[in-house]
Amino acid sequence: MPGQTAKLRKSPSGSLVEKRAFGCCLSDNQITTTPVKGPDESYRGFGQANQKQHSDPSLQQIITSLLDAVYSKASLRSTLMPCNIVVGGFFGDEGKGKVVAYLALRDKPAVIARGGVGPNAGHTVEFNGRVYSLRMVPSGFPSQGSRLLIGPGVSVDPNVLVKEIALTDTGERIGLDPRCGVVEERHIQAEAESDHLSRRVGSTRSGVGACNADRALRKAKIAGEIPELSRYLADVAGEVNRVLDDGGGVLVEGTQGTFLSLYHGTYPYCTSKDVCASAICSDIGIGPTKVSEVTLVFKSYVTRVGEGELQGQLSREEVQRRGWVEYGTVTGRERRAAPFNFDLARRAVMLNGATQLALTKVDLISPDARGVRRFEDLPEEAVRFIEEVEGETGRPVVLIGTGPSTLDIVDRRGA
Ligand code: IMP
Repeated sequence: MPGQTAKLRKSPSGSLVEKRAFGCCLSDNQITTTPVKGPDESYRGFGQANQKQHSDPSLQQIITSLLDAVYSKASLRSTLMPCNIVVGGFFGDEGKGKVVAYLALRDKPAVIARGGVGPNAGHTVEFNGRVYSLRMVPSGFPSQGSRLLIGPGVSVDPNVLVKEIALTDTGERIGLDPRCGVVEERHIQAEAESDHLSRRVGSTRSGVGACNADRALRKAKIAGEIPELSRYLADVAGEVNRVLDDGGGVLVEGTQGTFLSLYHGTYPYCTSKDVCASAICSDIGIGPTKVSEVTLVFKSYVTRVGEGELQGQLSREEVQRRGWVEYGTVTGRERRAAPFNFDLARRAVMLNGATQLALTKVDLISPDARGVRRFEDLPEEAVRFIEEVEGETGRPVVLIGTGPSTLDIVDRRGA
């Protein structure tokens, strides 16, 4: 992001984490500013003005108002462009659904937009005593006042989408871009019949890879051509950018995880698109200068379904002993598991330009954390782990998942 500088600060739990400021670099007793470029393209820095400021009070006033402008630009950026992108830091299944649902309920953004690959992703939302496994509808749907959008980069399975709209009762507020690729039965068939995808890669066989291949060849159908989808069609990029320009909040939901990215993941054991934060923005039509936060979600341990290396993979018995047994939301396959991987976490922070972290399932490595909603009530063991994650990645852990319910979260934003 242009004009952005970084400094280390102490996080609420005491670890060193990066502090971001735009256009100016702040420390306790010093302010330096980016030179302002004048209309004649020459730089009007503060050096000259500073030399004169004692003899000319009016110049001092000018400097003060310029500094105010820089300050207010920094805060203006986060208030007027509250665009938060939520992405996965490992191999998917980090708990993005829960994090997005929580942020939606708390922050009540004007728009919640889903980017990412398509119905191969399953996001679980547990809300009001019900469990929703969502493959198409944005996970923030519990926020009743929010418009729900699906960006043109996403492949859409009309059958899955229409069922989920009915299940979540969101027909009146969901919008689908007419340029979304359409997954057809023949795509699902092709993946099921492909030994390469089914056996070697371990695809979810949702048809999304085959649809994306057709799309690259410009043979896929798009949502605008499907009569049963016509009532949901919307200009997603137009709507999202209008909201941002008017100072409204936009929450963006990515799918899968960093190391399933077609470009940055463990090729060929990966999905059929890039899934890092910049790709998710492009899926919707949000330019990089409009993003205010990138929230990277890690689970407290790593899981993986399908094929591909999982460093530190534990035996099935050990996974059971630790209570880490999980099954895939879309396929029902048992997930392999390994302890938290700091090398992967650091790389995911880099690839996504993460500004803050969410850490889910802390109660599965520290059972006394179960259901806790205040940081000071977390057991010491959990706090030590959170501090280690912050220290190793250099980013603050602002959301801590402590149980399956959407509201089982410690929220340290603003702490
Ligand atoms: P595909 O994208 O369905 O073809 O699957 C390709 C690889 O990504 C396989 O290893 C899948 O198990 C994995 N994968 C795709 N989507 C998800 C997801 O949402 N969570 C976890 N793994 C996924």
